Amino acid sequence: MRYCNLGEAADSLVKGNVVAFPTETVYGLGADADNYQAISKVYSIKNRPSNHPVIVHLLDGDDVLYWADSIPIEAYLLIENFWPGPLTILLKKSKNVMELVSGGQDTIGLRCPSHNVAQNLLREFVRLKPSKCGGLIAPSANKFGKVSPTNAKHVFDEFSSESCFDIMILDGGKSTIGIESTIIDLSSIVNRGAHPTLLRPGFIKSSQIEEILGRKVFLPTDHSPVVPGSLRAHYSTNTPLEIIKEDIDFYDTRYLNKKIAVLSCDSPPIILPSCFVWFEMSFEHDLYASKLYSTLREIDVSHFDKIFVYNLPDCSEWDAIRDRLYRAAAAFI
Ligand code: TXA
Ligand code: MG
Repeated sequence: MRYCNLGEAADSLVKGNVVAFPTETVYGLGADADNYQAISKVYSIKNRPSNHPVIVHLLDGDDVLYWADSIPIEAYLLIENFWPGPLTILLKKSKNVMELVSGGQDTIGLRCPSHNVAQNLLREFVRLKPSKCGGLIAPSANKFGKVSPTNAKHVFDEFSSESCFDIMILDGGKSTIGIESTIIDLSSIVNRGAHPTLLRPGFIKSSQIEEILGRKVFLPTDHSPVVPGSLRAHYSTNTPLEIIKEDIDFYDTRYLNKKIAVLSCDSPPIILPSCFVWFEMSFEHDLYASKLYSTLREIDVSHFDKIFVYNLPDCSEWDAIRDRLYRAAAAFI
């Protein structure tokens, strides 16, 4: 595992190797979306079950035609308004999409990242490809079910013990958004007349999508595709995490001799027993999101016994943060 520059990263990807690269949401574990062996390596490094589809990252909206069929007008509207940016659009897949990419589904998730380094990497990758077109699969660069990385060191720490594959890392600084892209499913709009469905909340809110489409966005039903990001337990820390709705009794004897991290929007109480370490996040949801995974990773390496998530607001702007934290907590119920 080693750091590389952009030229090496693009060259390596064209040759079928795996390169972790930055996006504005989180770091992705990239591979050529047309190369079966390269994609298999990513599944294997992540320990990801092969029936869980991956997102294809594109340089721009024009490339959608290669990967998707029956593209509805709604897709073009969202592309025009939100790409490049943190929005993944699910469409009916074209015959060019390998089974391993779509995990056996008849759909394909497409996203055009806005991060400067991701854009430059995609541009150089496409330039070096003999076909002059292509995309990169890039699931979050973490072991399956774990917290996503938001800087290059997180990726290094996650995979530094891997010996079987030569993974490269392209360092592009911190991922500023800090949580994964919003996923909107438009795949059944054309033939089956279904509604746009929000499969994963993110930085781009349902209300923003509704405003552009002029129609309502629905939440998934039991018939929606089952995907890892929608598993009840996901995004899990190594340290047990619990969401606390009532006030914490900081003097409860159960906490004696324990080391407990408290994540809160608020500042700490004036007097706090020494078994608690307070992580003041933010009352601003985007700022909270941008700090969330790096804070959880910091706690995980600092040998805490427990994480309490305290005072989490319940308004809709906080949907994406609540989604990640409730799934993280579900791993410990
Ligand atoms: O922000 C992001 O989307 C990041 C960065 C690296 O781009 N990527 C990311 O990928 O979060 P991943 O694989 O960790 O999460 C993608 C989610 C998974 O839950 C996957 O199952 C779902 O999207 N997904 C991808 N393609 C799908 C498809 N065709 N149908 C249903 N779900 C799909
Ligand atoms: Mg992931």
